[in-house]
Amino acid sequence: MIDIDEWTITSATLKAQGGTADARLKTVMDSLVRHLHDFAREVQLTEAEWSHGIDFLTRVGRITDDKRQEFILLSDVLGLSTLVTAQCNRRPTGCTEATVFGPFYVPDAPKYQNGDDISNGAHGMPCLVRGSVRGIQGERIADARIDVWQSDDEGFYDVQRPELGSAQGRGQLSTREDGRFDFRSIVAVPYPIPHDGPVGQLLEHLGRHPWRPAHLHFMIQAPGYETLITHVFRSGGAYLDSDAVFGVRSSLIADWKRHEPGVAPDGTRMDEPFYTLDHDFVLNKAPRD
Ligand code: BEZ
Ligand code: FE
Repeated sequence: MIDIDEWTITSATLKAQGGTADARLKTVMDSLVRHLHDFAREVQLTEAEWSHGIDFLTRVGRITDDKRQEFILLSDVLGLSTLVTAQCNRRPTGCTEATVFGPFYVPDAPKYQNGDDISNGAHGMPCLVRGSVRGIQGERIADARIDVWQSDDEGFYDVQRPELGSAQGRGQLSTREDGRFDFRSIVAVPYPIPHDGPVGQLLEHLGRHPWRPAHLHFMIQAPGYETLITHVFRSGGAYLDSDAVFGVRSSLIADWKRHEPGVAPDGTRMDEPFYTLDHDFVLNKAPRD
């Protein structure tokens, strides 16, 4: 193929990748090429702008390592994570909605028993979290595995504090026979997503803030059910209407009740004010093979 111009380049590229053996890869790559080319033509992308774009992506790559995932942040602030999450998690009414995963999940978090304190020393006001995991028919799900993770009261996850020797504000536990669980932690606060890198600069240029409303992350897994990755957001808090990563669903907003010092629902004496959160999760049945 010679004499390819700004219009024929699209069919030339599609023809060049016409031998893609994997049908799904072909669908994805053909569509990507068509949309990328249409985008460049629509905005009449200049060489200087494209070079700037390459530089931006290079910086996103350079800052990314096993602790900092700038590509996830980029996908999140562009709304792509929420779009993919939404279209991959269409569930019957009554099931708990999914929302973005975010970059701070850690596999193999410490294991805890119900009633334990997963903050493990993270700073913040105490919070007792209780709830249940059920199926869509109301059935209690025993032994569901719950992963929970959250930031401290300065808005940092443990993985953002390399000086810590152990996990804080994250853990795994399992539901009891009656599908219920409870743990102690600290109260969630709003925090900005990491914004000292290229994605933060992009947000600034776009006139956007980097803040997320206060939330707790949950991943819930049980045999025979679809895995649920979601948050619980704190009602009445800041940024619920302007989450930097578009993760808020009204069904995921819950009341975190404040209590004065006294006896907590689990019978322990609290010497300082504390919060309680009660929240129930409903899982969808996994499709049969
Ligand atoms: C989070 O909630 O942990 C998160 C989600 C998206 C981007 C950054 C952080
Ligand atoms: Fe978070």
